[in-house]
Amino acid sequence: ERPDALPHDMAGVRMLITAGGTREPLDPVRYLGNRSSGKQGYALARAATHRGASVTLIAGATTELAAPAGVEVVPIVTATELADEVGKRAGDADVVIMAAAVADFRPVSVAESKIKKGASGPAPIELDTNPDILRGIVAARDRGELGGTTVIVGFAAETGDASGGVLDHGRAKLARKGCDLLVVNAVGDGKAFGTDDNTGWLLATTGSETALPLGSKTLMASRILDAVGDLLGGSRS
Ligand code: CTP
Ligand code: CA
Repeated sequence: ERPDALPHDMAGVRMLITAGGTREPLDPVRYLGNRSSGKQGYALARAATHRGASVTLIAGATTELAAPAGVEVVPIVTATELADEVGKRAGDADVVIMAAAVADFRPVSVAESKIKKGASGPAPIELDTNPDILRGIVAARDRGELGGTTVIVGFAAETGDASGGVLDHGRAKLARKGCDLLVVNAVGDGKAFGTDDNTGWLLATTGSETALPLGSKTLMASRILDAVGDLLGGSRS
């Protein structure tokens, strides 16, 4: 798509987007990580910029993606750093999109020097729970701390399991998180992680559920921004 062919409907909108996976260090050479490529978050940042938004992208581990032109990129490594940066910036944003894959847990302690094999075999790794950043910003908005109406978008990567399908898990997560929109991606079997295509659902607290047919992450980005634009329009009029 040519940038000048896109609608310039987000001029003046301040957007905070998180992308990529966090890495939780174990020792100077090792970390706990995940398979997020960052591509969907970068596609959102690019598309939003082309539509006139001013975008800050807080980026964790990505597969060496080029910073989108005109976007301020803030690099982070751990979930704690991500939480700090989001906390500092959410108040200045009209839209917060949490596309980052945040580690749920982090090692309780980080060894100062490389952990050696030793003779006694592996020691168990003790973990602490990371803060839920998305729930944190929803709670801050509910307390009136974000100054004005902020549209908040979450992501969920679901495989479905014995307790329910992808969509069931997505509905439950939307209710639990309290964000306005939840992008539910079907993952597993090579879907989503690191690929250029995505498929899934866009769920809104209004109850609307839109299927997102298999397509590029660029196409998915513009669908998501269309839905964000509708919510912004509603809060502005
Ligand atoms: N998220 C977050 N902080 C965390 C974990 C997740 O802000 N500590 C955000 C993600 O960026 C994403 C959304 O919450 O937008 C859903 O992430 P997900 O991992 O699917 O949700 P969890 O509540 O961690 O549930 P699960 O047990 O399925 O991992
Ligand atoms: Ca999680």
